[in-house]
Amino acid sequence: MSKRIDINNLNVYYGSFLAVEDVSLAIEPKSVTAFIGPSGCGKSTFLRTLNRMHEVIPGARVEGEVLMDGVDLYGSDVDPVTVRRHVGMVFQRPNPFPTMSISENVLAGVKLNNKRISRSDAEDLVESSLKGANLWEEVKDRLDKPGSSLSGGQQQRLCIARAIAIKPDVLLMDEPCSALDPISTLAIEDLIQDLKEQYTIVIVTHNMQQAARVSDRTAFFNIAGTGKPGKLIEMNDTPTMFSTPVEKATEDYISGRFG
Ligand SMILES: Nc1ncnc2c1ncn2[C@@H]1O[C@H](COP(=O)(O)OP(=O)(O)OP(=O)(O)O)[C@@H](O)[C@H]1O
Ligand SMILES: [Mg+2]
Repeated sequence: MSKRIDINNLNVYYGSFLAVEDVSLAIEPKSVTAFIGPSGCGKSTFLRTLNRMHEVIPGARVEGEVLMDGVDLYGSDVDPVTVRRHVGMVFQRPNPFPTMSISENVLAGVKLNNKRISRSDAEDLVESSLKGANLWEEVKDRLDKPGSSLSGGQQQRLCIARAIAIKPDVLLMDEPCSALDPISTLAIEDLIQDLKEQYTIVIVTHNMQQAARVSDRTAFFNIAGTGKPGKLIEMNDTPTMFSTPVEKATEDYISGRFG
């Protein structure tokens, strides 16, 4: 539960294109780390390398180390499926399986991992995961209805329930609120605050207020121009980052004076 991640000198390529260059940073357990920066600076690219999700993209590869509690995720004996079992991911658009019921959606990740579980264990897991995602009260009377019958904010919490059902150590979230209204956004932010008691959380966001509200530490990425690689500009605890950033580019970005 809740692991520390140390990234050392990570480069990420799509074929011959260097998308992210030489990133080293530490992600603390039981805390929320936010990645911010302009479009195209490589936030999603970098995030996906933390559970080897980029490997589903032909030509995508990394150089460098990602250590989880000291163990390299890219070690030759490490299975990417196992990595994804420990490092869950929530995407920008809620993506429940539309034909599956709410409870089947919660269990989908567990079943993918070939875990056989009894009916009563499955029911317990559905309930605890939906409670963990703060969705239980809204759906407990219609668990057999399709996941697609929920509102966007509920669907995103369903995806979070699906992610925590596999009991990961780390939860990666790529702009999890960008498709949601302000009320659903605050619900997800509250949930993130609860989840950090148990998990290491990394969130990509374009919303500066959100980064300031939910994160303990913030990393700012930037890009020097089209075709250039994204780089980490600075990282600090969030209050310091937003009050007294060291770099001018960070200050310009967080104050909306970018470009
Ligand atoms: N599947 C892909 N194949 C090739 N290049 C890609 C792929 N995905 C992203 N890139 C390129 O990598 C760079 C970083 O993209 P990425 O999506 O990581 O940026 P981002 O910071 O997440 O942007 P946004 O804020 O718009 O989501 C961009 O130049 C992008 O075009
Ligand atoms: Mg992105």
